[in-house]
Amino acid sequence: MAVLSRRQTSSLVFFLIFLSFTEAKEILVGGKPEAWKIPSSESDSLNKWAESSRFRIGDSLVWKYDGGKDSVLQVTKEAYTNCNISNPIAEYKDGNTKVKLDRSGPFFFISGAKGHCEQGQKLHVIVMSQKHRYTGISPAPSPAEIEGPAIAPTSSAAGFKASFLVPLGVLVLGLF
Ligand SMILES: *[C@@H]1O[C@H](CO)[C@@H](O)[C@H](O)[C@H]1NC(C)=O
Repeated sequence: MAVLSRRQTSSLVFFLIFLSFTEAKEILVGGKPEAWKIPSSESDSLNKWAESSRFRIGDSLVWKYDGGKDSVLQVTKEAYTNCNISNPIAEYKDGNTKVKLDRSGPFFFISGAKGHCEQGQKLHVIVMSQKHRYTGISPAPSPAEIEGPAIAPTSSAAGFKASFLVPLGVLVLGLF
């Protein structure tokens, strides 16, 4: 193995750290296929799921559903609140919808199937800016997140980072 100079090594380390922060994810809405439907109860709603998930700029939301029966409408906050399906920002009905979260702030989605939004088939996600990634979410983090293992306090991405950087640190130490 070629021995890297100290400068090359630190460039490599910074590059890898940078990569681990910019890693974008595809997030399946509801955490499982067929989750885009009228929820059976409040606790089953997609917004409950969204509250316990982290969304970052560059991540994509993915919906899997029967495109013959349902659709995904991206709408304004007002249309979301009123379940107004008449003039969406974007409409998807291919059954395998992917929407990239390309900015921070709120995104609103409702079902385009008649009457579904009124029965709770809607989704509101907030994409954190880089600076405020872990604040501004309502409500407060769940107890599971606060009391979780120290090495992965916020998400599986953090766990991934830790498991990735520890061997890297060992490698770097070995070079000196
Ligand atoms: C739904 O939205 C359209 C277009 O934005 C608007 O013209 C219409 O009045 C709205 N309907 C209701 C019931 O709010």
